Amino acid sequence: MSLEVIVSKIRICTLCELHKSRTLAVPGEGSLNANVIFVGEGPGATEDIQGKPFVGSSGKYLDKLLDLISLNRKDVFIVNIVKCRPPDNRAPYLDERNACLPYLKEQIRIINPYIICTLGKTALETLTGITSISKVHGKLINIDNVELFPLYHPAAALYNPNLRSILESDMYKLKNILKSYKKNNQLLKDETTLDSFFHN
Ligand code: URA
Repeated sequence: MSLEVIVSKIRICTLCELHKSRTLAVPGEGSLNANVIFVGEGPGATEDIQGKPFVGSSGKYLDKLLDLISLNRKDVFIVNIVKCRPPDNRAPYLDERNACLPYLKEQIRIINPYIICTLGKTALETLTGITSISKVHGKLINIDNVELFPLYHPAAALYNPNLRSILESDMYKLKNILKSYKKNNQLLKDETTLDSFFHN
């Protein structure tokens, strides 16, 4: 499957209840050659109207965080666990996350990044089962040979100034990790690696 086919499927998806209240589905966007994929929770009000990920206030902050480490959103890939906005910005329910997950898996398979950066608790828990972000943020986690780098959600840092400096210093750690991957010409993951990761 190509990214375009996934996008067209997502735009007309009716696999969970969230499709009933959406304006536009938000498939995700960025570079096909991205070394890093950022995974948020789900679209908010602005994303629902524009059909693009992280274009509201947390998106503006994410742009600043990328800029801090000399990245641009065109260099990375940005997606969400669920592609349609949960009403009142509630966290997506488990059945909604499960219904949407095959799209994300396919996107990760195609882009095949060095690192998956989860943004916030929902993405971390959905992809790893880890429930405590405070214990693992800013640390590289290897699950079945897939590298994950958990970050706090930009929205959480906007509301809590104490988290802002933590998130920003975690971004610098990410910069160094990406630099060392490039230097060592780290190989991308093969199909079987991703299979065992997704199996969990
Ligand atoms: N929060 C998210 O998790 N994703 C978005 O796209 C916007 C806000």
